[in-house]
Order: sequence, then structure tokens, then C-alpha cells
Amino acid sequence: MQRQVYLTGQVVVESEAKISIFDSAVMLGDTVTESTRTFGHRPFKLEQHIARLYKSLKVTRIDAGISEEEMLHVTLRLLETNLPTYREHEDCWIVHNISRGLSIAGADPTSQSGAATVMIFTQPMDLSSWAKFYTEGCHAVTPMSRIVPAQSLDARIKNRSRMSYTLAEMEAKLVDPQAQGIILDIHGNVAENKGGNIFIVSDGKLKTPTTKNCLAGLSRETVIQLAAELEIPCEETELQPYDLYTADELFFTSTPYCIMPATKFNGLPVGNGQVGSMTLRLLAAWSELVGVYIVDQAQ
Ligand SMILES: Cc1ncc(COP(=O)(O)O)c(C=O)c1O
Repeated sequence: MQRQVYLTGQVVVESEAKISIFDSAVMLGDTVTESTRTFGHRPFKLEQHIARLYKSLKVTRIDAGISEEEMLHVTLRLLETNLPTYREHEDCWIVHNISRGLSIAGADPTSQSGAATVMIFTQPMDLSSWAKFYTEGCHAVTPMSRIVPAQSLDARIKNRSRMSYTLAEMEAKLVDPQAQGIILDIHGNVAENKGGNIFIVSDGKLKTPTTKNCLAGLSRETVIQLAAELEIPCEETELQPYDLYTADELFFTSTPYCIMPATKFNGLPVGNGQVGSMTLRLLAAWSELVGVYIVDQAQ
């Protein structure tokens, strides 16, 4: 059986799904997006992902042509259709990409002349390249390029205009091919990774940047919720590289890997250079919450 995708009202075989070369996704990078994952084949926080998608659609003035409720419904139906293509212990991504639709060169980019292009697909979640970082921790590196300021593009709009993130990640990987970037804002404060949020542990307290300069990540939200349940204090605040150099623990959060420890920051060990106990406690609590052993599954 072949995987199916949802393409603007139609369900078609993935390999046959086509969009125009004049789509505003291609012409302008004018696309909002969401990536949700499943745990044990059940979607995690799908309603919240779709709610964030509809906020992004509103702010970017894209009319998806279907309601939030319908979006949830067609997404669940697509997942159900595709689940037989996944193995028992294999989970998947559910990705939404919605562009403003056709944008012939020279057309007024502010008007949506036709239907939006609504693309929903599922893909196997392969975390094998991340797996070793759960035990070894990764190397976090600050690239030279800074995050696009919220005054230009609010970081809370989850969008596919990814050139700045891509270049920043390349710069981090020029330092160390295994590095994961931690992008600073124009004031030198820690912002985010190209696809994740940042946390530190300092004197028993969790700290993470405010959403003034980063996406309001749903994994970030999950860590904040788990911390409250575990009675771990957590503060949303400005952080500078100094705070990361001197932290006891450092980790990234994102939908696919949930929590990714970093044991090195710009070449220096974080804390004692080992994956920290608070990071492991949070990973265990998350695994408990979803009934899937996140590290075991990745490994
Ligand atoms: C720029 C950026 N920051 C943070 C995140 C993490 O968000 P979430 O936890 O909702 O996956 C993502 C996810 O793709 C992202 O693209």
C-alpha cells in the first residue's frame, strides 16, 4: 500500500501529488506550516498544532478555504488511511503546509486570487541520526547569522521561509559537522534553533527565552507543563551566551526528538560534560506521559 497525501480537497497517492511551479510556496516561500508527531500511532497535541496553524493563517491573511474543525477531521482521516503503512513501533510526522496558492510573477502578492494550496502528508519518523545525542549530548554552536527580528517577521508565525535558519545551521555545521545551532537575536540574546527551542538548568532552575524572539514551541510548552508537575521551577527570561557557558545543563526541545541534551557549548563542556539529571528526569516524565520510551524508540 502506498502512502496518501491530502492536496487541496483531494486525497492522492504521495508520488503523484503535484503543485504548480507558480505556487506562492515556490515563488515567495509564502507558506505556513505545522509538524505534529505521533506516539504509539496516536497524534500528540494535534488540536494545539492546528490551533497554532490557524493563528499563523490569520496573521498572514491566508484563507485555507476550510475550517479549523474540518482541518482536524481531514488530518485524522489521512492519518488513519496511512497508519497501515507504518510498522508497530514506528511513529510518524504529520505535516501541514499551506500556501496562498498561485502567484504568477508580477501578481499582487497581497491578494489571494484563487484557492490556497493545502498540503498534508505523513512520513516515517526516523530519529536514528539523533539517537546518540540522548546519551552523549550534542555540541551546541552559535552561528554568526542572527535570527530575523520579530519586528520583521514574528517568530510565532510558523512558516516555511527557511533561508535564514538554513544558512545559520550551515554556519554552525562548518564549525562542527555534528553541531546544532543556537541562533542569537540582534541584541545578542539566545533565540532558538532552526527547528527547536532552548532550555538551560542553572542552580536547579529551568530557564528558557521568552517568545519575543522564538517560536512558541509546543514541546517547549510540554517541558514547562512537566516541570510544573515535577515542581521544578521554570522561568521565561532573556538569556545570553554567558548563561549557557555557565549552565549546569542545556537542551533543545522540538516535536520529533522532544528533548535533546547538549553537553558542549561552543567547544566548552556544559556542566560536567555529561547529560544532566534534570534533562533525564524530564525525558522520563515525557515518556511516561505518552506511553512511549522516547530514547529507546530513537535508538
Ligand atoms: C524555528 C522553530 N523553533 C522551534 C520549533 C519547535 O517547535 P515545536 O516544539 O512546536 O515542534 C520549531 C519546530 O519546527 C521551529 O521550526
